[in-house]
Amino acid sequence: MNRSELETIARAMVAKGKGILAADESSGTIKKRFDNIKVESTQETRRSYRELLFTAPAAADYISGVILYDETIRQKTKDGTPFPQYLQGLGILPGIKVDMGAKALAGFPKETITEGLDGLRERLAEYHGLGARFAKWRAVIDIAEDIPTAFAIEANAHALARYAALCQEAGIVPIVEPEVLMDGGHTLERCEEVTNQVLAAVFAQLHSHRIHLEGTILKPNMVISGKKCPMRAAAQQVAEATIRCLRRHVPSAVPGIAFLSGGQSSPEATEHLNRMNVLGPHPWELTFSYGRALQEEALQAWGGKPENVEAGQKAFLRRAKFNGLARSGAYDAKQEQAAA
Ligand code: 13P
Repeated sequence: MNRSELETIARAMVAKGKGILAADESSGTIKKRFDNIKVESTQETRRSYRELLFTAPAAADYISGVILYDETIRQKTKDGTPFPQYLQGLGILPGIKVDMGAKALAGFPKETITEGLDGLRERLAEYHGLGARFAKWRAVIDIAEDIPTAFAIEANAHALARYAALCQEAGIVPIVEPEVLMDGGHTLERCEEVTNQVLAAVFAQLHSHRIHLEGTILKPNMVISGKKCPMRAAAQQVAEATIRCLRRHVPSAVPGIAFLSGGQSSPEATEHLNRMNVLGPHPWELTFSYGRALQEEALQAWGGKPENVEAGQKAFLRRAKFNGLARSGAYDAKQEQAAA
């Protein structure tokens, strides 16, 4: 492992004014997104949609890296350039999702463990050869009456740390993603309590596994009330609770924290990131690694029609730019109307 190379990549991933595009939807997940806009999910529709995103003019002004899926890292632009090489040419780092999904955790009803460690060393070597310079592994923690258990948190944290160690051995920066879901009816306080437990377990395991934190990016959920909570917490509360929680657990050696959007609307996710950066300066860069909150408007504008590619790119860039502004607290929700 070359530590300084890992550090250089990690810092580039969280460069000022930029963030990460999560375009690593598995075939099942992208099908759901396409179902919403009544587009059939085929290898070619998936390829052309990803091409729309990657070739959006000036995307590199706001996007530092793109997380790809196994199928996508092997696909090409229509003039034959492999996607990873195309992105590298723009100065955008290619990344790869390497987990195999959250599966039922035996003996722990309603909880999951993320799979994908077997053979990971070999897969990482192949992905590095294909151009990947960072990777992603998502652990999923759900909140309900009797969950999460301490055991499920620990098992997922352990897997995350084993993944991170293999990445660093391969010269790949691990994005460590422990996602506390916002699907339930829980309050912000309950989310904060669980996120505290999860981050404490994750950083203890990263330490035990001798992870080089300077070459690691954390991708956490925000501390937020559940979507079904009757009293949704206000944006300022989300920002303050999230920062409070991160300050307690994330060592300043970690160069950056890149949030997932987790089902927030696109404007909400931008607003929350902006407010957190307004609360700075912080010991780490605070940025985005959004999937849905960067793509929803683009998907709607595109609708699977070749004549709408430009409209889809415009919608994507508009949101990417807003998030780029939120990196420094320079976003103002009024801009949503003005630029619409
Ligand atoms: P969302 O921003 O849609 O939550 O996706 C981010 C991601 O990469 C989840 O693993």
